[in-house]
Amino acid sequence: MHYTTYFLTLAPLALALPQNAPATQTQTASAPWNTDAGFNAVLDPAIQKDWYRDFNATSAGQTSPSTQLINPSHNGVWNPAINNWLTWSNMWELHEPEIKRASKDKLPDSNVLKNAIENQSFKSKVDARLILSLFLNEAAGNVAIGCNKLNGVACGMFQMMGGRKFDNAGATLEEKLNNMIRDMLYGNHIAVGQANGTPGYLDIMSGNKQIFWKNPTKQIWSGNPFGAARFYTGGDAPNYDLTVGNGDKNYVSKFASRLVGWQDPWAPEVN
Ligand SMILES: *[C@@H]1O[C@H](CO)[C@@H](O)[C@H](O)[C@H]1NC(C)=O
Ligand SMILES: *[C@@H]1O[C@H](CO)[C@@H](O)[C@H](O)[C@H]1NC(C)=O
Repeated sequence: MHYTTYFLTLAPLALALPQNAPATQTQTASAPWNTDAGFNAVLDPAIQKDWYRDFNATSAGQTSPSTQLINPSHNGVWNPAINNWLTWSNMWELHEPEIKRASKDKLPDSNVLKNAIENQSFKSKVDARLILSLFLNEAAGNVAIGCNKLNGVACGMFQMMGGRKFDNAGATLEEKLNNMIRDMLYGNHIAVGQANGTPGYLDIMSGNKQIFWKNPTKQIWSGNPFGAARFYTGGDAPNYDLTVGNGDKNYVSKFASRLVGWQDPWAPEVN
């Protein structure tokens, strides 16, 4: 969520959300965030079948990385299917060095991050690999990244609108990381730029379909993690073609390609 245009595109939709209205005035950035006021707490079971595996399910995923770059410019049903993704443990191993490098002394034990992602994935049923890929897209592996310099309110390791940044996300490393992941998944009801807060990735992917995807040209993306990534970064998924929308036109390509083993060009391995 790097773009100030997000405010403009999402505001009219958010204003139409009646279930958000009561929470807006009472929430503050330091209070525990409301994760259930009209938002789903767990990914819809029907969507889980296609797009979720337990992080510790031994049979889930490929073990050899592909360098295939996924092109999101075609219409319709989207690849890569979940069975073509790397296993969670392989994907983690592939990216752990760049995460350590980017986070420096803020992440003295990278297992705390691995455990936090697994923990929140298991609770929300948003696949751990999607969480990791979104983090790499948003923060290039730096858990302690601050707020977006342009808008000042997209903060933390997922650059979430109204989200907490590392420094004020909790007392311990475990708390900070869990809280930033939760901010991204469940969204918030804090008025930053939009009167009624910002939906999280889980809300976009699973909940409130009738609101976020009611335009018939967008319905194809309802329940789809790649359409949700486009929406997450730009505040909309305006087209079948996921290169179209606010922000980086390669955003979804990076997000998807990493799932099958692609390494970021901006963070090459230097072992
Ligand atoms: C996976 O981890 C969860 C949470 O720690 C646990 O409840 C579950 O039993 C584990 N499953 C397997 C197959 O180990
Ligand atoms: C799991 O998440 C809960 C909050 O959702 C948090 O209190 C706990 O510390 C987390 N555990 C780990 C191992 O990250």
